[in-house]
Amino acid sequence: MLALEKALRTTAQDVEDVLDKILRVEEGHEARLFESMRYATLGGGKRFRPFLVVQSAALFSVSRTSALRVAAAIELVHCYSLVHDDLPAMDDDDLRRGQPTVHKQFDEATAILAGDALLTMAFEVLADRRTHENGNVRAELVAALASAAGAHGMVGGQMLDLEAEKIELDIGGITRLQRLKTGALIAFSCEAGAILGRASSDAREALRGYAHDLGLTFQIADDLLDVEGTIEETGKAVGKDAVAGKATFVSILGVERARAQAKLLANQAAEHLAAFDESADPLRAAANFVVERRN
Ligand code: IPE
Ligand code: IPE
Ligand code: MG
Ligand code: MG
Ligand code: MG
Repeated sequence: MLALEKALRTTAQDVEDVLDKILRVEEGHEARLFESMRYATLGGGKRFRPFLVVQSAALFSVSRTSALRVAAAIELVHCYSLVHDDLPAMDDDDLRRGQPTVHKQFDEATAILAGDALLTMAFEVLADRRTHENGNVRAELVAALASAAGAHGMVGGQMLDLEAEKIELDIGGITRLQRLKTGALIAFSCEAGAILGRASSDAREALRGYAHDLGLTFQIADDLLDVEGTIEETGKAVGKDAVAGKATFVSILGVERARAQAKLLANQAAEHLAAFDESADPLRAAANFVVERRN
């Protein structure tokens, strides 16, 4: 097995354990909410954002407990974003991670509430003393995740994504959309390691550059998979962007040029890490993984 695959798998297992503990099922009539939250979160996904947190934290010798709790927090936000993204009012998808989407398995109202609760829980995890002993570090994590997830980040990007079905966007417009929709949570994942490790401003800047290019690469790869992937590989419906008339890098550039652009960005991402030693090799390898991935 490649070193990167092994590292991804280890992170996935470790973060799964943390998430499993965080997402206990409470007794009572609200048990259905907790079950839907567990259904949305556990047992699936690449756990790529947790991997970025763990690897960026490793650059600054952060304790694994701290890194994994922040990794769990970002995965909670990511899972919430998927639950809401799949709702009939948004992408209207029936399949996610190879299983019925949350609103199909439960119902729409439960899916909305599960998303709300996952989002809120992420901040509860970050604000908890067990995440970091220093209150300033915890406050910085909370502020950074709030800004990455909200109107200036992922949610703002999702709004632009809906608009992109109605208006013609050029490459600049799509870049901005994707930077917000997907890039912001990926950027937080890399920044989190620097916050936990109280990294120098140079190191933070380098990680910011890496994450910027990586996030864009990640979404171009997602759009390529929507055109070229299969439902078996991706665990979700494919061919939906074109049907929705959604402007993407692929719809504007075509498959070949979009792939070339993704490769270029992946190389550029890795170049931002030049100042780090071999401890940054997993992050360098991740840039290549993002382009080559089939799910
Ligand atoms: C899918 O994210 C949604 C995007 C932002 C492109 P992932 O490709 O990380 O999905 P999972 O977590 O592995 O299911
Ligand atoms: C979703 O982008 C990004 C989110 C913020 C959830 P997509 O709508 O392209 O993601 P998939 O293809 O459904 O995973
Ligand atoms: Mg969407
Ligand atoms: Mg979608
Ligand atoms: Mg997609």
